[in-house]
Amino acid sequence: MFTALVTGCDHGLGPALAENLAGRGWRVFACRLSPAEHQIDELSARFPDLISVHELDISSDESVQHLKESLAGQLSSLDLLINCAGILGDMEDGPDGRLNYALMEQVISVNAIGTLRLTAALMDLIRSGTMKTVLNISSEAGSIQDCWRTGWFGYCMSKAANNMQGALIHNTLRPLGGRVIQMHPGHVATFMRGYLDTTASLTPEKSASNILHTVLDTDLPVRDRPLFIDHSGKELPY
Ligand SMILES: NC(=O)c1ccc[n+]([C@@H]2O[C@H](COP(=O)([O-])OP(=O)(O)OC[C@H]3O[C@@H](n4cnc5c(N)ncnc54)[C@H](OP(=O)(O)O)[C@@H]3O)[C@@H](O)[C@H]2O)c1
Repeated sequence: MFTALVTGCDHGLGPALAENLAGRGWRVFACRLSPAEHQIDELSARFPDLISVHELDISSDESVQHLKESLAGQLSSLDLLINCAGILGDMEDGPDGRLNYALMEQVISVNAIGTLRLTAALMDLIRSGTMKTVLNISSEAGSIQDCWRTGWFGYCMSKAANNMQGALIHNTLRPLGGRVIQMHPGHVATFMRGYLDTTASLTPEKSASNILHTVLDTDLPVRDRPLFIDHSGKELPY
């Protein structure tokens, strides 16, 4: 049986990824930030032998260490780590307007450093897995070559940094037969903006289904650098 760990399973894309993996018969360690969020409990009740729920704050050394210790008795290898957790920060910022540096630091702390913190903590488990694959849910907003916005400083910088930490991890995993994939999930109808984004073109379930079809069912090439692709497999420029 394949094993995956998915972060950000409170709501949005994370639980949709966990549900799709369980539907494929995978064992899923689903991590949520807040125990007050129960969507993943309902999925765990539907797939009691496949989905277990864990608390995790990727911005905290202590929380990541606690997860690592609690996993020690439960699994000896991890085939797929999906770093899905993320926050948006300020969408109304700009160089001539407000720039909330404290919030920017928080966004970078979660989206870039938090992703690395968890991946690094689980490296031994990933090395022991059959796939040795880290799937980072990045964003087109992290592309420097395609940058068109004048704001969203924290989010765009954090996703560019997420892409870089992914490239560095790829350099460790690739010689071992593993890889990192940087994934743009599309514009997904989630609560990331603090309200349901009804302008989005994809439901979380459709995005998750496309992502996992692209990663697990198609023969993606392995290159010197991590693929930076969207949910349909289309390559994005760094
Ligand atoms: N939605 C889109 O159109 C879109 C586009 C491009 C990329 N993405 C990326 O897709 C990923 C999933 O986002 P989403 O759209 O599904 O939004 P979402 O519903 O807000 O999901 C984000 C998840 O991350 C969790 N989280 C936040 N801070 C965390 C922390 N410190 N530690 C652990 N978990 C934390 C959230 O928990 P709480 O909500 O309980 O705080 C939530 O479960 C993100 O990385 C996002 O950047 C989304």
